[in-house]
Amino acid sequence: MDDRVTCLRIFRDALRAFPWRGDWQNYLPALQAALANAQVLVAEEPQAGTIAFLTLNPASGYVDHLFVHADWRLCGVGRGLLEVARTEAGRPLILDVDAQNVAARDAYEAMGWRVMVEAKPAQPGKQIRLISP
Ligand SMILES: CC(C)(COP(=O)(O)OP(=O)(O)OC[C@H]1O[C@@H](n2cnc3c(N)ncnc32)[C@H](O)[C@@H]1OP(=O)(O)O)[C@@H](O)C(=O)NCCC(=O)NCCS
Repeated sequence: MDDRVTCLRIFRDALRAFPWRGDWQNYLPALQAALANAQVLVAEEPQAGTIAFLTLNPASGYVDHLFVHADWRLCGVGRGLLEVARTEAGRPLILDVDAQNVAARDAYEAMGWRVMVEAKPAQPGKQIRLISP
């Protein structure tokens, strides 16, 4: 995949904005494994090149990663990638979102996703499992 480096940069910059996650490099092995083994969907813009990516396990519908460059958020890019992934999987998608990631949780709610498994209260760093329409 030629745009792997760009995906890594988008990932790094996003994780640096998540103070609850700690060192972003701790999450590199999982990202690299997903880029190598999962189905990777990339969004490109003619002037900017790669602006977002998603990694999908098509058999389970599980989305490992969804990251949109900060300059391109709220433009429908995340929605578009998820719609393509939903078609590829042929079933509702599932993902885990950090309980503290309020912006992403609001985005999924706006797109009609529902909570499958709620995080336990008072446990920072926990994730919430969501399912798509
Ligand atoms: C979460 C993320 C993927 C959303 O992608 P996006 O391209 O900005 O989302 P879209 O523009 O496609 O928006 C889809 C819907 O969510 C809403 N939405 C998006 N971001 C939102 C926010 N921060 N607050 C409230 N609603 C939001 C949009 O308004 C839109 O709803 P609408 O169609 O009813 O107007 C993106 O913000 C991102 O990459 N964040 C950093 C990484 C991250 O948190 N990834 C998710 C890990 S689980």
